[in-house]
Amino acid sequence: MSGIEEVKDVTCRINGEEVTLAGEAAGSTVAALRARGLYGVRETCGLGVCGTCTVLVDGEPVSTCILPKFALEGRDVVTVEGAAVDGELSELQKQFIESQAFQCSFCTPGFLASAKALLDRTTGELTRDEVEEGLQGHLCRCGSYDAITDAIIAVSRRRGASEPDAGVA
Ligand code: FES
Ligand code: FES
Repeated sequence: MSGIEEVKDVTCRINGEEVTLAGEAAGSTVAALRARGLYGVRETCGLGVCGTCTVLVDGEPVSTCILPKFALEGRDVVTVEGAAVDGELSELQKQFIESQAFQCSFCTPGFLASAKALLDRTTGELTRDEVEEGLQGHLCRCGSYDAITDAIIAVSRRRGASEPDAGVA
């Protein structure tokens, strides 16, 4: 046996906790996360084209259905379960509710991950074009795009120019 098949356990941080993911390293990340009870990580297409399974890996949005588990070695993973701030919904999560930025909500954890990454790498109030570009690759089968965009713009509007993203997501 050679290559990735030799790697059985993967050590990483998930939502701030050091964990070891046992078993076949070539399995998908979405399956490994859901096996740990993180059911906010959801799989739909399984092909890397819908964004539903997106989580943050080292702060970047990643489709976990096409990410082999061994790629998590030494990385920092944040799922929607870890997005709360001091035990409360983040400002971004609250704004999604306020803006009614979902219907069935199946796509919401993925959108939240990419929205947080977008807010983290930008400053000031975002335009609709900037939000739409930042959310490329995410599909919402309920068609809540306008409300999702509204929510992200609302959060971006409130943030201070010198402290662009503290605790927003
Ligand atoms: S389920 Fe992963 S991108 Fe669609
Ligand atoms: S809210 Fe239903 S798929 Fe987006």
